[in-house]
Amino acid sequence: MAHKNYDVKNPSLAEVGRQRIEWAYREMPVVRIIRERFTAEKPLQGIRISGCLHITTETANLALTLKAGGADTILCASNPLSTQDDVAAALVDYGIPTNAIKGEDETTYYKHINTALDNKPHLTIDDGADLVSTIHTKRKELIDNVIGGAEETTTGIIRLRSMHNDGQLKYPIIAINDAQTKHFFDNRYGTGQSTIDGITRATNILWAGKKVVVCGYGWCGRGVTMRAKGLGAHVIVVEVEPVCALEAVMDGFQVMPLLEAARVGDIFITVSGDKNVIDKAHFQVMKDGAILANSGHFNAEINIPVLEDMAKSKRTIRDFVEEYTLADGRSLYLLGEGRLINLVAAEGHPASVMDMSFANQALCAEFMVKNKGKLEIKVHPVPEEIDKEVARLKLRAMGVEIDSLTAEQQKYLASWEEGT
Ligand SMILES: NC(=O)c1ccc[n+]([C@@H]2O[C@H](COP(=O)([O-])OP(=O)(O)OC[C@H]3O[C@@H](n4cnc5c(N)ncnc54)[C@H](O)[C@@H]3O)[C@@H](O)[C@H]2O)c1
Repeated sequence: MAHKNYDVKNPSLAEVGRQRIEWAYREMPVVRIIRERFTAEKPLQGIRISGCLHITTETANLALTLKAGGADTILCASNPLSTQDDVAAALVDYGIPTNAIKGEDETTYYKHINTALDNKPHLTIDDGADLVSTIHTKRKELIDNVIGGAEETTTGIIRLRSMHNDGQLKYPIIAINDAQTKHFFDNRYGTGQSTIDGITRATNILWAGKKVVVCGYGWCGRGVTMRAKGLGAHVIVVEVEPVCALEAVMDGFQVMPLLEAARVGDIFITVSGDKNVIDKAHFQVMKDGAILANSGHFNAEINIPVLEDMAKSKRTIRDFVEEYTLADGRSLYLLGEGRLINLVAAEGHPASVMDMSFANQALCAEFMVKNKGKLEIKVHPVPEEIDKEVARLKLRAMGVEIDSLTAEQQKYLASWEEGT
């Protein structure tokens, strides 16, 4: 007997999951338009897709869209703590084998990745590059079958570009994150709102008057700072890139080294995609009661092993809040085991913004199938036509009209002869 190709926490949660998936779909008009076309045209007929994504209501709507296009789709989680168990149950009910349990240990996490790969994918869809790296290191026999892969997030793309630079990448990848209709909106407005939401749900703190230290002023950092400021927090930015730091200053934030900010901050949020950004020297000077959260892809931004070493004792004081009491009596509070707090303690990005990210995913899956064998093996940008089309469809769904260039303007903008 073939082994079961799904693994969820509780199949009886399916009905709740279905309702939540349906609710999210109301906010995903671009994905809806694509799903209607896919249902009629079946551009993914006969294509097997393995997706390693956060198992949320929005991902469910992407998977249902790929299925409507004819794809045989199987899913696993891209983070051990981000799964919505009711959504996983509903997906199985919808006929999409899903392998994801919130709180799964590392062994189960990789077992689930391998089950998703057992389907011998033609396309891989990753959020963090765990499928691609597993295929390239442990499941090399699958490579020949793969047409291409899509990568959702900044950190995954950094990993894949390094693989390519090392001559290790063996099939083409599309960098979904780099689409303007992805990172301008998902990373900024999505992460901005949902990170604040996750921290609020975990702690119920009042933001007004708090000193909030945000490490990283990239797309996610811009969103988090903007929303924290809107709630009345005093925001301090920590950066390593001069241009990003300058932008933060001119956007009205205080910028300083983390060692300095560590002494004054009430809440620390990492969104840098980097490692050990908050480390021993910082823990040593933080105020009693400081709260630490991460919304970057991996749980490597806060040096948790060092915090564990420094702690005299540790207890869970609320769901997703771990109190570390240090030898000198100070307590530091780590949220969600340092994993992306917006997905751990809240529901991840709102559907309306994932609408654009996942529209890019669906259209790029179609693009890769259409261009099978023609794409160079490297990390490709999302084709500009797709990016523009997603923006056009989103505007249309929002009822927003824009102007277009006149023939005279087109000529003017394309010429160099006309001056003053
Ligand atoms: N939580 C979510 O749902 C979610 C959504 C999108 C992206 N992400 C992840 O968030 C992270 C950031 O993504 P992004 O798109 O903002 O990336 P980005 O490259 O736009 O920004 C990262 C910024 O961090 C800065 N940085 C790097 N090391 C630093 C350090 N030691 N101290 C201070 N600043 C430092 C960089 O200079 C850069 O400006 C990535 O890991 C990405 O995968 C998470």
